[in-house]
Amino acid sequence: MQKEYKRTLITTALPYANGPVHIGHLAGVYVPADIYARYLRLRGDDVVMVGGSDEHGVPITIKARREGVTPQDIVDRYHKIIKDSFEELGISFDVYSRTTSATHSATASEFFRRLYDNGQFVEQTSKQLYDPEAGQFLADRYVTGKCPHCGNERAYGDQCEACGTSLSPDELIDPKSAITGAVPELRDTHHWYLPLDRWEGKLREWILEGHKEWKTNVYGQCKSWLDLGLKPRAVSRDLDWGIPVPVEGAEGKVLYVWFDAPIGYISNTKELLPDSWEKYWKDSETRIINFIGKDNIVFHCIVFPAMLMAYGDGFQLPDNVPANEFLNLEGDKISTSRNWAVWLHEYLRDFPGKQDVLRYVLTANAPETKDNDFTWRDFQARNNSELVAILGNFVNRAMVLTHKYFDGIVPSIPADVDAGRAALAPELSKAVADLTAALDTFHFRDALKSMMEIARIGNRYLQDMEPWKVAKTDMPLTGAILNVALQLCANIAIAAEPFMPFMSERLRRMLGMENVGWNMLGSLDMIPAGRHLAAPELLFEKIEDATIQAQVDRLAEIKEQNKLNAWTPAPQAADVDFDTFMKADLRVGTVLECVKVPKADKLLQFLIDDGMKKRTIVSGIARYYNPEDLVGKQVCFIANLPPRKLRGIVSEGMILSAEQPDGSLVVISPSAPVVPGVQIK
Ligand code: 2FM
Ligand code: ZN
Repeated sequence: MQKEYKRTLITTALPYANGPVHIGHLAGVYVPADIYARYLRLRGDDVVMVGGSDEHGVPITIKARREGVTPQDIVDRYHKIIKDSFEELGISFDVYSRTTSATHSATASEFFRRLYDNGQFVEQTSKQLYDPEAGQFLADRYVTGKCPHCGNERAYGDQCEACGTSLSPDELIDPKSAITGAVPELRDTHHWYLPLDRWEGKLREWILEGHKEWKTNVYGQCKSWLDLGLKPRAVSRDLDWGIPVPVEGAEGKVLYVWFDAPIGYISNTKELLPDSWEKYWKDSETRIINFIGKDNIVFHCIVFPAMLMAYGDGFQLPDNVPANEFLNLEGDKISTSRNWAVWLHEYLRDFPGKQDVLRYVLTANAPETKDNDFTWRDFQARNNSELVAILGNFVNRAMVLTHKYFDGIVPSIPADVDAGRAALAPELSKAVADLTAALDTFHFRDALKSMMEIARIGNRYLQDMEPWKVAKTDMPLTGAILNVALQLCANIAIAAEPFMPFMSERLRRMLGMENVGWNMLGSLDMIPAGRHLAAPELLFEKIEDATIQAQVDRLAEIKEQNKLNAWTPAPQAADVDFDTFMKADLRVGTVLECVKVPKADKLLQFLIDDGMKKRTIVSGIARYYNPEDLVGKQVCFIANLPPRKLRGIVSEGMILSAEQPDGSLVVISPSAPVVPGVQIK
């Protein structure tokens, strides 16, 4: 049964400030959270939405080291980009702060200290990898080596990005420090652990018994964790970037980023409401909802709740954690390090004024129950054939016809005229009921469909009633039809607000309905007859093929670049003895003729002056050269290979080429002209 509540606290996963946010973050966390917050505000609920940047953790320190700047420089840069781009997209945080704030540092320290004082930690000494040259312990990401599963030479101590396997540093083959390249050694280090096992019973009861209504992906992940049995988890690290462990003798140790980050939700609320923050955390009539991605489930459903229970003092546990799965991009996993993403700040630059289109597409395609794919073609199709052709078209027809026949003044409905209103009302009521039910249960894709259903109802209504024809004979009926159509537009303005706030605001302005709340949804009497409407504006515009192609091309370039970056030289071949090598007769010749071999895509036929005779050689480089460009060039070749027939041509040797990382071949030539036939020594 749904618990009664007075207020809602919405938390949104704190994005790491080691890069900008991308569409994966938006679809997984921020767009759904914002839809929900806006919906509750429209209903008149007491709601607070908190967020902020996660500014600790190893990836930030690695990036800083690579760029030769401080971690503070990195987080200052990305916090600004992230905060500004969220704001421009209309993510309506009540507070967006950062975990380097003084309030957060004090809150997280106090939290740790209280747990420490109350005996809520266990302390353990364990062996960890240490870089003797850098003089520091190596967090998992600071260790690189060969992946034992796929052989990738650049796997990290926590994960291989090539095959996706989770690793621990001791599994890596030939581990190296990412800081100095030194071979790490194992040394003793002391840390504080939160004994999750102590909370296992309470967590089982709270989740497995008490929250069967949670999304199946969330419930299922929690159940697997609990069934495996919980173990103590380290909450400190040997690092110089983070919140110092507030205990004597803890020099060089900081709070583990996953200990301090969720406390950020509390710090953010404190910053927003210094005097009343506690009622959003410690009152049983507050409902806390955590919006996160699936990789954060264990931290929000197991670790942070255990921390809150260990702290006590009335802290409430989340009521729901509607975690989403992942969004992929054009069939590939989104990745910050591989630059495989649509970055929000770049989208806002490339598509000015089209915030709602992105919000719409990410909601329509949200990875609510399984991973989903974002493609630019789908983005274009949803804009052109849904937003423009259905919603925009309906509103535009209603507005333009009202201006055409009634000078923009809302016509009245004569007492004896129904104009199909009675038949339409239940359809509208159903769409509104479906919309509300879907929003209440975090089914935002379905909610969006129900919102769009109102526009579809409107289009069908105009199509059936044909006011443009009726206007030739019956103006009172025409007025009644347009009145009904405008009421549907007003319903769209409210129903669409959580999803597309910018469009909604423009539509409200056009219809003169500034302060109408969710409670009016479903009404066909929202706009009074006689009201002067503003001039019609197009709410959406078509996105052209060339605009989409530019984005597709950008991604293709990134894919090429990634191939180059991932390339490593082939391992050295087994030794060959000198005498055997010397048997190969390598020479330089001059190309006299070069033509394509008919019906063979890859082959070129050369006639080479080798100083003694004219020699024919067939080579597989046709895809990389125009044959005529090679005439007159000097090439290197193996002269003493036995002749071989290729497509009926006898090839008397092999031309030497270098194979590039992308597989293309470059012919090897001497660095200055030489006499044809000289040997290569
Ligand atoms: O996965 C992440 O991006 C983390 N920075 C999320 C932290 S959520 C919360 F606990 F702060
Ligand atoms: Zn691997």
